[in-house]
Amino acid sequence: MFKLGNLEIKSNIILAPMAGITSSAYREFYASFGVGYVVTEMVSDMGLIYGNKETKSYVTFERLDIPTGVQLFGNSAENLAKAALICEKMNPNIDFYDVNMGCPVPKVTKTGAGSSLMNNPKLCGDIVRAIKEATHKPVTVKIRLGSGNNKAQFKEVIKEVIAAGVDLIAIHPRSAKEMYGGQPHWELVKDLKKNVNVPLIVSGNIYTVEDAVRAMEITGADGVMVARGGVGNPLLVSNINNYFNNKELFTNNLDQQIGFCLELARLFIEEKGENVAMRTYRGIATKFFDGFPKSKQLKCRLSTELNTYSDFLRIIEEYKKEIEI
Ligand SMILES: Cc1cc2nc3c(=O)[nH]c(=O)nc-3n(C[C@H](O)[C@H](O)[C@H](O)COP(=O)(O)O)c2cc1C
Repeated sequence: MFKLGNLEIKSNIILAPMAGITSSAYREFYASFGVGYVVTEMVSDMGLIYGNKETKSYVTFERLDIPTGVQLFGNSAENLAKAALICEKMNPNIDFYDVNMGCPVPKVTKTGAGSSLMNNPKLCGDIVRAIKEATHKPVTVKIRLGSGNNKAQFKEVIKEVIAAGVDLIAIHPRSAKEMYGGQPHWELVKDLKKNVNVPLIVSGNIYTVEDAVRAMEITGADGVMVARGGVGNPLLVSNINNYFNNKELFTNNLDQQIGFCLELARLFIEEKGENVAMRTYRGIATKFFDGFPKSKQLKCRLSTELNTYSDFLRIIEEYKKEIEI
């Protein structure tokens, strides 16, 4: 448990933002497994300023039982603050703002946004200050070790954002160049919490309870973000929580995974309509069946044949019959 500005965060397991995945349906689903807060997919400041319909849809969501932050990306303090003010007018359910300082995708970095911001630590501080002044809400940042191949910029960026009054720092200890591959450099952020006087959250290859415990022990962080490891495995969140609360851990079983997968599908359909939801869901649904018998064929069918909810039910029924034989 820790405080994010004035907000009480009741679990130290956080749902990491993932563009194309952590829409409001996904966030609602994971909230029920005990995450402390959730963040939207990254939202373009200029998209909001120009009134882009799709961009605005990312900022439209209902209130959950836990805080929700909007993650903004952009390259200027002024425009990011303007965008945050637009969000303030659009949605009273926003609890805080997060600034994306880690995205390694060239489309974003070539504009000077995402991980490119880390080239300019002072600008990182100015951004935090500007959004706080504009919204009077807590502001968090999500950073990497550095932009490009740099693995040291985080130190200066952390100093600047703390001086600017940041309310929480999340770090993914890979350089931008490393994208999502290889092991995170935990050795470079060992004991990092000693230099961070606001809550510190760490992210990177959290696939098991042991991964989470180790990442927190090495860094001294207040919490851990679950990203790819939680896709199709919501019990990972419950189990990390259970571990820290000295409760028994759950094991995955097929019926339960099918139930989770159908529930998330229903939430996506409510959010996006059946057609778009089921196509988006192809890549997510398969993850619920990793490691189950004969799941290779099931996953192949889910990733190619899923167009409607009834397709989904039929494919699952056929798989169940096949494995009973
Ligand atoms: C598909 C995908 C989309 C992502 N989108 C975002 C994003 O919009 N904002 C962000 O700050 N991080 C984003 N991330 C980074 C994750 O939040 C997380 O820090 C990263 O995946 C490392 O954690 P992991 O190794 O446990 O997956 C994304 C990651 C993935 C795989």
